[in-house]
Amino acid sequence: MFENINTPEMSVEEFELLGKLIYDHCGLFFQEDKIYFLRKRLSKRLEFHQMTSYRDYHMFLKYDPKADEELAVVVDLLTTNETYFFRENYQLKAFSEEILEEIASKKTDKKLRVWSAGCSTGEEPYTIAILLKKLMLRAKFRDWDVEILGSDISHRVLGVARKGEYSATSFRDMPERYHSYFHDVDNNKKRVSDELKSMVTFMHLNLLDTTRIGLLQEMDVIFCRNVIIYFDQAAKKTVIHNFFDLLKPEGYLLLGHSESLMNLSTAFNLKHLKNDMVYQKPGIEIPEVSVELPGAEKKTEPALSKTVPDTDEQNKESVTWSQIWKEK
Ligand SMILES: C[S@@+](CC[C@H](N)C(=O)[O-])C[C@H]1O[C@@H](n2cnc3c(N)ncnc32)[C@H](O)[C@@H]1O
Repeated sequence: MFENINTPEMSVEEFELLGKLIYDHCGLFFQEDKIYFLRKRLSKRLEFHQMTSYRDYHMFLKYDPKADEELAVVVDLLTTNETYFFRENYQLKAFSEEILEEIASKKTDKKLRVWSAGCSTGEEPYTIAILLKKLMLRAKFRDWDVEILGSDISHRVLGVARKGEYSATSFRDMPERYHSYFHDVDNNKKRVSDELKSMVTFMHLNLLDTTRIGLLQEMDVIFCRNVIIYFDQAAKKTVIHNFFDLLKPEGYLLLGHSESLMNLSTAFNLKHLKNDMVYQKPGIEIPEVSVELPGAEKKTEPALSKTVPDTDEQNKESVTWSQIWKEK
């Protein structure tokens, strides 16, 4: 493709200004060698707004009343949205054959909340729905209340996810037997069944928006695969911290195969399963209680139990217990 000869140059200063603005907005981090990439991706926006410099465009993104709308367009232009059904299948096997089995045997409230964070066009949350649907036919999960949340920062990909129509490339790793969850539509596409659609809620969410994430219900499992690779260390730490706070005790965090928590967080336990290694939030620890009696030697008593089973009621109760102990 020939480059538009009218595309203005981007100075290092302009690159830094735009890079910072984009980073602050969504965590995407561009090294200095990405100046050409940024210039090329944003050039059409300058053309569209009939602007002659990236400095003007930066001012527009910072101060114009329509800046939020424009930032949404910028996010669509700069994010990588590659995804497909049954991506990283060994991990999905660990999820359905080991993690869910464990959850089914431990949880007594029969509620399961799974979040696909950075779900792009929806193949990941629908894959999770297929795996859960399969399990819900079995006695262990039959009358469970299952909620799957798919979220992304890009409005465009969420539009595709909600529509639920996919072409052949999305199905390249999906086992043949699951095609029954889709039906043919025009343009050689297949549409996801209403049954699966009803299991997934899609939401626009920036993973760096700690306030909004704090308002979500607690999750049993969070998938965040192939998302944080595009962030710098500080943004990764913020996102992982948000996940930790939102997970239930003993909840699981599943990252992409090239991602890890190394140098990011030591708060999770790395758990070796048969099919994969995954991160797990520790269970609730009941702290040792220091009993101070007037005139007596300080004595430390062991906690009654280390890990409290993971049901909502019991969590609430155990928090109250430890508060009473601390105050005594
Ligand atoms: C490569 S896709 C991964 C899709 C899917 N998780 C998978 O592994 O197949 C990365 C997605 O992360 C989204 N993303 C990037 N930055 C984000 C942010 N700050 N908040 C939420 N989503 C973000 C992008 O819009 C993109 O759709």
